[in-house]
Amino acid sequence: MTPPTMETTNLMARFVKVADVGEVPPGTVKLVFVEGFPVALYNVEGQVYATDDTCTHDEASMSEGKLTGPVIKCYLHGAEYDVRTGKVLRMPAVAPLNTHAVKVEGKEIWVSLDGQGQGGGSL
Ligand code: FES
Repeated sequence: MTPPTMETTNLMARFVKVADVGEVPPGTVKLVFVEGFPVALYNVEGQVYATDDTCTHDEASMSEGKLTGPVIKCYLHGAEYDVRTGKVLRMPAVAPLNTHAVKVEGKEIWVSLDGQGQGGGSL
């Protein structure tokens, strides 16, 4: 049996509608839930990205942080992450945020929790 490739894995990903595009204007972050799991949605100049909403440092909500370009700053202790990759840019966090796949269809934003995200969805 052939192991699944990234392409077949993406075909199997289950996307859930989480918001309309008007709910996440450029430069903002919004808390949504995917099957009960909290996810932060970010609009970076028309590209929508999704990460876990929970800061890896001490469980603050990333959707309450400040988004500047592609960088989200946690409101609690100031850790910074690149929302496109989840990479930590500033301590005290050391573990990256999980990213999630996003697609935009018409005026709807869809997110999948299946596997790591690859880029964002265009508006
Ligand atoms: S909880 Fe986010 S930096 Fe501490």
